[in-house]
Amino acid sequence: MYSTVGKIQKPISVVDLARMKSSNQKITCLTAYDASFARVLDSVGIDIVLVGDSLGSVIQGRDNTIPVTMDDMVYHTKCVSNGCIRAFIVADLPFVSYCSPGQAVNNAARLMREGNARMVKLEGGRQRVEIVEALVSEGIPVCAHLGLLPQSINQLGSYRVQGKDSKTAQLILDDALILQEAGASLLVLECIPALLANEITQGLKIPTIGIGAGANCDGQVLVLYDMLGISIGGSPKFSKNFMLDAGNVMDAVNAYASAVRQGDFPQNEHCF
Ligand code: KIV
Repeated sequence: MYSTVGKIQKPISVVDLARMKSSNQKITCLTAYDASFARVLDSVGIDIVLVGDSLGSVIQGRDNTIPVTMDDMVYHTKCVSNGCIRAFIVADLPFVSYCSPGQAVNNAARLMREGNARMVKLEGGRQRVEIVEALVSEGIPVCAHLGLLPQSINQLGSYRVQGKDSKTAQLILDDALILQEAGASLLVLECIPALLANEITQGLKIPTIGIGAGANCDGQVLVLYDMLGISIGGSPKFSKNFMLDAGNVMDAVNAYASAVRQGDFPQNEHCF
């Protein structure tokens, strides 16, 4: 149980997230990789803390997320869960850790058992249906991830906006419906046009969480180090440095949470 200003609050569940979508309450999400930052996010009331494989870049200083291992993810998920009481913890399944249903279930079980994650996230569309179904049938909630897929960087060649033409937009829209049908409970949309993200969000029952996907997603996520202005190599266009107007990390995270809840972030300048 978590106590804030005299109120007892229960940990957020997947049911609460669905309820937030149906009551038009914006969902706030940030990444974290350790207990101290996780505690700040949790105490400010961030709804979802994502242990992203972006830790490959911002923690390990690598060029991309490819080198991140299951042991890395388990370690950082454990650290983050030690810092959270209320927030819903989602952990990434890293590159090639979910190639078969059996491998995906075993690795997701590690994130939940050892790391205390409440949900696992995986990248990809219709080709992941069998994996999503296997996870869900074992009681493992799944967050899907469409649009820009960082684990496919060696096929993509560069990090760029996806779904810009009608054919690729339709593929992403169809994938979203297929993944929902397979049992995903949450969907991250990364770097797609705001209009497409809006259409997907309106067409799904499950909540969408956008990053570079416009203001009309059900929630927003940013990489913590981007929004604190301390990412190696600078921050992407869709992020905002909330530290510029804040005196400290807690105020910056609070400003982000308020901006998302009030629909003040993202602005047009952060969208495609
Ligand atoms: O790894 C990560 O941090 C992510 C977010 C960018 C959504 O997947």
